[in-house]
Amino acid sequence: MMIEKITISEFEGKQQLYLATESQIKALIDAESNVYAKLANVAAVLKTNFDYFWVGFYLKHNSDELIIGPFQGPPACSRIRYGKGVCGKAWELNQTIIVPDVSTFPGHIACSAESKSEIVIPILKEGQIIGVLDVDSDQLAYFTKEDESGLERICKIVSDSL
Ligand code: SME
Repeated sequence: MMIEKITISEFEGKQQLYLATESQIKALIDAESNVYAKLANVAAVLKTNFDYFWVGFYLKHNSDELIIGPFQGPPACSRIRYGKGVCGKAWELNQTIIVPDVSTFPGHIACSAESKSEIVIPILKEGQIIGVLDVDSDQLAYFTKEDESGLERICKIVSDSL
């Protein structure tokens, strides 16, 4: 399957780009049954279309730990405890967290000094968190409500396909 690169400039805004990205992701993951293959291509499509600094999955390993899954970007920490960092806090609160300036977030886990803002979205399957999608930007206050709703829809598409 040939996947074309699309960029924000080809669209009126991020919202349209998210809609186009959702279609790409749906086509890619519906054609594959393996969870790692699905998540690897989701991370790749998001990185390609949006050029985030880092994008990837942390997957629930046991009752108090996430382990890194497929991602795109520089190497990152492998394990995150429940309630720790932005990822562990999104798991604990069971809600999306947007951090406009990571230096002000208590307990933020810095994997790279270049990461300036972050969004973490829980991925739910039958009401239970199975992991989170973590996206980092090298710009302060990059993530908006458009990113929140776009990425939440993508997490729902992923969860529905698992
Ligand atoms: N900053 C995250 C850790 C993962 S990296 O951003 C890839 C956190 O505080 O949970």
